[in-house]
Amino acid sequence: MLKRPIIIDTDPGIDDALAIAIALFAEELDVRLITTVAGNVCLEHVTNNTLKLLHFLEKDVPVAAGASRPLIEPLVDASNVHGATGMEGFDFPEPKKELLLKENAVNAMYRVLMESDEPITLVPIAPLTNIAMLLSLYPEVKSKIKEIVLMGGSASRGNKGVMSEFNIATDPEAAKIVFDSGLPIVMAGLDVGWKALVYPEDSEKMKDMGKTGEMAYCLFKKYRGGSFNTGLKMYDSCAIAYLLRPELYTMEDAYVDIELSAGMTRGCTVVDLKGYLGKEPNTKVCMDIDGEAFRAWFLEYVGKCI
Ligand code: BDR
Ligand code: CA
Repeated sequence: MLKRPIIIDTDPGIDDALAIAIALFAEELDVRLITTVAGNVCLEHVTNNTLKLLHFLEKDVPVAAGASRPLIEPLVDASNVHGATGMEGFDFPEPKKELLLKENAVNAMYRVLMESDEPITLVPIAPLTNIAMLLSLYPEVKSKIKEIVLMGGSASRGNKGVMSEFNIATDPEAAKIVFDSGLPIVMAGLDVGWKALVYPEDSEKMKDMGKTGEMAYCLFKKYRGGSFNTGLKMYDSCAIAYLLRPELYTMEDAYVDIELSAGMTRGCTVVDLKGYLGKEPNTKVCMDIDGEAFRAWFLEYVGKCI
C-alpha cells in the first residue's frame, strides 16, 4: 500500500496522544517527523510527553522541538484540561531521548520536506507557531507541502473565548500567516470536535484492547475535555480521521480569516460561508461529522495500535 507521508505538529495533550497513536499504527500513513510546540503545556513538557509516548508505543519516529511560546503574546496553557504536565493519569516509561533531533522543529520540517520525493501533508494539532515560522523563513517549502490538515478554529462558537478556539487563539498571528499562505488547508475545528465523542462504554471496551487502549482509559479518566460520562472530545483525532475517512465529514469551501484585533473576538476564525468578504475560498471547512461513524472509526483504529 502506498502510504501517505505526514508530519504531525503537536502539543500532547491527552487528545493529541490518541491522535498520534492512531496515526503511527495506521497502515495508510507514514509519519516522517513529529514536531512539538508550546500549547496545552510548556514546550519542555510537550516534548517529554512525545518522547514518553513513542517509547511506550515502541515507535522510533524522529522528534524536533519547536517554539516555546506564541509569536507575540505569552503562552496561556490548558493545563486545567490536560493536567499539570499535559498527559496526566498514566504511568508512562521514561522519554526516549535519543529520538530528539538536535535541529529545531522548523529546520527539521524544512529538511524532511525538501528531502522528500513526494509532497508531504502537514498535520498541525496545536497552535500554529512552528508552521508559521516554517512558511515565513522558508517559503520555498510550499511546493513540497501537499496540504495542511489542521485541528483548530470554529465556524460557530469557541472553547477558549466566546468565539475562539484554543489552538488558534493561543497564537492568532501564526494562524493568520498559515491561513494567508495560499496552501490548501483543511480545517477540522470545534464544529466537528464537539461531535467527535468517546463515551464510557467505548472507554471500557478500549481498556481491554491492548496497552494503547489501557493508556487511553487511564488518560480519559483525568481528561477534562468534556465529561467521562457524557462524552470526551477527541478534537485532534478529527484531523487524522479526515486523512483516513474524509467521507465522515460534511465540507464547505470558504474564505477563512483570523481576527487579530484586541478584544473579545481576538483569535476567532472568521469563516465566510456566504462570501460577504468577496474573497476566494482558502479553506475546506469541516462543518459536520457523523459522530456514530467517528466513534466506530476511533475504536477500530485504537484497536490497530499495540
Ligand atoms: C485543541 O486544544 C487543545 O487543548 C487540544 O489538544 C486540541 O488540539 C482543541 O481546542
Ligand atoms: Ca492539541
